[in-house]
Amino acid sequence: MTQWNEQVAIVTGAGSGIGHGLSHALASRGVTVVACDINPERIEATQKEIEAAGGKAVGVTLDVTDADAVAAVVRDTHERHGRIDYIFNNAGIAVGGEVRDVELEDWQKVLKVNLDGVVHGVVAAYPIMVDQGFGHIINTASIEGLAPFPSTVSYVASKHAVVGLSTSLRVEGADLGVKVSAVCPGYIKTRIFEDSKFVGMDVQDEIDNVPAWLGITPDECAKRILRGVERNKAIIPITGMAWVLWVLMRVSPNAVIALMRRQLRHARIRMRNVEPKN
Ligand SMILES: NC(=O)c1ccc[n+]([C@@H]2O[C@H](COP(=O)([O-])OP(=O)(O)OC[C@H]3O[C@@H](n4cnc5c(N)ncnc54)[C@H](O)[C@@H]3O)[C@@H](O)[C@H]2O)c1
Repeated sequence: MTQWNEQVAIVTGAGSGIGHGLSHALASRGVTVVACDINPERIEATQKEIEAAGGKAVGVTLDVTDADAVAAVVRDTHERHGRIDYIFNNAGIAVGGEVRDVELEDWQKVLKVNLDGVVHGVVAAYPIMVDQGFGHIINTASIEGLAPFPSTVSYVASKHAVVGLSTSLRVEGADLGVKVSAVCPGYIKTRIFEDSKFVGMDVQDEIDNVPAWLGITPDECAKRILRGVERNKAIIPITGMAWVLWVLMRVSPNAVIALMRRQLRHARIRMRNVEPKN
């Protein structure tokens, strides 16, 4: 636990799901958490829960798509605490639906939050960490950043970009004392599915088709992420399914493509009542 005690972390998307779990897990290890979320009620609740449990948290309402606002939070955290040990660029959204159904506006929204949001955190925190000579940037990507997934193509694009950004920055930061990791979860039981827009597909149907045993809670996910951070892993896959797909993707990408194609065919039959042409 000594690794964490008295350290300072910024967590985005801390009002719900994985970010909420991370904020609690960090605070319980003695970390001062600057917990940020676009939703003021959620972030106020997160701060109060952490304080009630005896932890230290500062709740900040923050939209990660606003570069100046992200920079201000990072600067303020550094000035106030004299250090930033971790930034978890975790806030994210999803839009589901085949590319033929999804509008340009949906693509832009997903890329703005999931990619620009991470870039804003990196651009603000990385130079400070380089000056300090230490720090760890942890970007939440997804297993969808490591393999092809139909029906969430804009999300997949954003998460592949986050993986590429993270592994490349990891190389730049290595000799400067800054660590960088990409977290790649499989199915985590959060509200992201309820909060996301789905076009031409039924979210409940999608959830019902994922066996519950494949998923884990956000608190369990947070614990596993922190284990990966302690070990300074470049890629931190979370859940058994994510591990299997990641390995399969490297061993036999064609097998993953065939698997995804099969899944999509079944989904189309369920949702559109369309039999595949070949
Ligand atoms: N749940 C999963 O199965 C899963 C799997 C892989 C990756 N992820 C990724 O994990 C991260 C967290 O997702 P989650 O499942 O915990 O979702 P969640 O919806 O439970 O939590 C996401 C939080 O981010 C906040 N948020 C959304 N837009 C924001 C913005 N512009 N600025 C600041 N905060 C914003 C929301 O208010 C919400 O509180 C996301 O990047 C997501 O893509 C989730």
